[in-house]
Amino acid sequence: MKQFISVHDVPSVKEMVEQALAYKANPLQDKQLGANKRIGLLFLNPSMRTRLSTQVAAANLGMESIVFNVGGEGWKLEFEDEAIMSGDTVEHVKDAAPIMGKYFDMLAIRTFPSLQNKADDYSELYINQFIKYAGIPIVSLESATLHPLQSLTDITTMTESLRKNPLPAGRKPKVVLTWAPHVKPLPQCVANSFAQWVNAWDGPNGEGVDFVITHPEDYELDEQFTKGATITHNQDEALKDADFVYVKNWSTYNDYGKIYCNDPDWMLNNEKLALTNNAKVMHCLPVRRNVELSDEILDGPNSLVTEEAGNRVWAAQAVLAALLSK
Ligand code: CP
Repeated sequence: MKQFISVHDVPSVKEMVEQALAYKANPLQDKQLGANKRIGLLFLNPSMRTRLSTQVAAANLGMESIVFNVGGEGWKLEFEDEAIMSGDTVEHVKDAAPIMGKYFDMLAIRTFPSLQNKADDYSELYINQFIKYAGIPIVSLESATLHPLQSLTDITTMTESLRKNPLPAGRKPKVVLTWAPHVKPLPQCVANSFAQWVNAWDGPNGEGVDFVITHPEDYELDEQFTKGATITHNQDEALKDADFVYVKNWSTYNDYGKIYCNDPDWMLNNEKLALTNNAKVMHCLPVRRNVELSDEILDGPNSLVTEEAGNRVWAAQAVLAALLSK
């Protein structure tokens, strides 16, 4: 593996999941793999789980990590080629990235979308400029359109859950991605990425997945990620017999970055959960309680959110190890 930007960089989803679970069982099994190596973690935007779990993962591999909150503490970067830098940007990524390539063996970057310009965001300009100019492997810590470390974690968490509570032989797991209300426009990254990875996943035993996406009208995601899923505006119908419900808000994709609907009826609660096959509930966090997800779900026995966030370490460790072993 040369970089980790999307599911397309991963030779086998199943093998990455198995590696993540192997690290969970034995975190220090490769504690020399990253000896004398250094990863730079660049945050243009805030983070808690991604930042800490990647640092823990690097430490488990014996690798040094250096965090740079470039968004808050660094020179404001310019990403457009041939820009006339007479505005507020101070340093071009063309100058900054090769320097980071000298300091580090790999570079991990978080860059959220603007939600102002769909073409710019969906071209993944920022992370692609780092790929172009850094000269070392790049890891996405969440980019404008995708959050692959989260998605690998999510597939790992579902696999682990299905090993603890297996389905009847031959039955595919039903996985539902449901839109949830929110007070501000959020990126589509987590939903896009979850859809991309679930569509690429064979299921825990190779039998596939019954994948359903449900959202209000006008919240369609980009088809390049959702193709293969069943899409419905009827949340109750979608939830019927679900084994996993993945809850996430996203803003509109077509009329880009807007909030059209904030209907609180879309918030998952125990009444809706009763429609499912006693589904496990997932969310990437952070979550706005009693807006996106109810207290009764988050504090109830079906919530996997803490386990899921814990698994971020093992997914990150599997990815870093794959890059170190290339
Ligand atoms: N889920 C996730 O990426 O969390 P952070 O934004 O806290 O890193």
